[in-house]
Amino acid sequence: MFELTEDQQEIRDLARNFAREQILPGATERDRSHEFPTDIVKQLGEMGFLGMFVPTEYGGTGLDVMSYVLALEEICYADAGVGVIMSVQNSLAIYPILAFGNEEQKHKYLPAMASGEKIGCYALTEPMTGSDAGAQKTRVRADGDDYVLDGTKMWITNGPQADVCVAYANLEVESKHKGVCAFIIDTATEGFSVSKVEEKMGIRCSATAELVFENLRVPGENRLLGEREGFKVAMATLDGGRIGIAAQALGIAQRCLDLSVEYAKERVAFGKPIANLQAIQWKIADMRTRIEAARLLTWRAAQLKDAGKRASAECSMAKLMASEVANFCAYEAVQIHGGYGYSAEYEVERLYRDARITTLYEGTSEIQRLVIAKDTLR
Ligand code: CAA
Repeated sequence: MFELTEDQQEIRDLARNFAREQILPGATERDRSHEFPTDIVKQLGEMGFLGMFVPTEYGGTGLDVMSYVLALEEICYADAGVGVIMSVQNSLAIYPILAFGNEEQKHKYLPAMASGEKIGCYALTEPMTGSDAGAQKTRVRADGDDYVLDGTKMWITNGPQADVCVAYANLEVESKHKGVCAFIIDTATEGFSVSKVEEKMGIRCSATAELVFENLRVPGENRLLGEREGFKVAMATLDGGRIGIAAQALGIAQRCLDLSVEYAKERVAFGKPIANLQAIQWKIADMRTRIEAARLLTWRAAQLKDAGKRASAECSMAKLMASEVANFCAYEAVQIHGGYGYSAEYEVERLYRDARITTLYEGTSEIQRLVIAKDTLR
């Protein structure tokens, strides 16, 4: 059922080699310095990893979602901070323009985004509106042929670097999701500002920001779909985004397992390598089994997306499972490393912190369960 094609295997190998040779060696240092990986992002763009499912006619690589998932897992194996930059660019900034944009919008924005010349972000969440996305308070009013936006967005990955922002605002806050409109915003526009860059527990080389829209004028031609159709854009985009975060979580989990196996074979206790102890073997077996289960769910969701089917529940299942598995594996990896796992000198310490975000962003585990339950009970 999941026989990878030669092309998919090639993409995975390309991403794996690049990730292990060029990204992994600097991951610890970037975690400490919080430095945005400008050069790596540039290379990802040149290699086609920033516009993976953008058709070649719009300057992209024209690949499938499965290839994207394979590549993203490899990048996140090396550094989940780099991975989220790639995932937001592909899934959250490019996808809504590709899926819901008109020809003019696609030709105007996609080539520069697919090449990485322009970085994108996705602005949905607000200081008081996270899980209940329809309750957003950022306002928009029509003014002649333009729209004017006012409000604050929060937890925006790539916010400080973004040239293009796919943002949501409400025509009528009382109408909740029925008033939401989606826009493509050029961040150089007057009225767009980055008000704060967050200090984070993990994925520290990626930047997460608060954005302020103040009397921000957006031309009408930059609206995605019709007025009040923005919530559908936001939700459909998050379906794909959740597959991306599942792939990110898989990369973290696999790295935790590989480091644990390596350490368990080397570390001696009670006169033998700890890999010989059943207490450690069971942990290794559980980690591998759960990773495999999460990977199958993630690939299944990617397959459905590639078949053009709406797969909200499957995307949520993949994200729920993979993010919980990443946290489980990170916990067990630290446990296997003992005190060394708690030291910043060991990579599992960073992985433990990096894993934590995966059950939070692009919908918490609780929101994934809500989507799955709604689909099951309808
Ligand atoms: N695709 C298309 N349309 C969808 C959809 C989907 N996946 N899900 C819902 N819709 C539509 C529904 O059909 C419905 O349409 P109608 O009004 O025409 O009937 C409409 O949207 C409202 O649907 P619900 O009644 O299900 O909406 P709700 O208000 O109950 O909310 C929710 C549902 C699942 C809780 C949603 O609010 C949600 O996903 N919340 C979490 C938000 C989230 O994930 N935020 C993360 C932001 S990104 C990020 O993390 C930052 C970053 O930079 C990484």
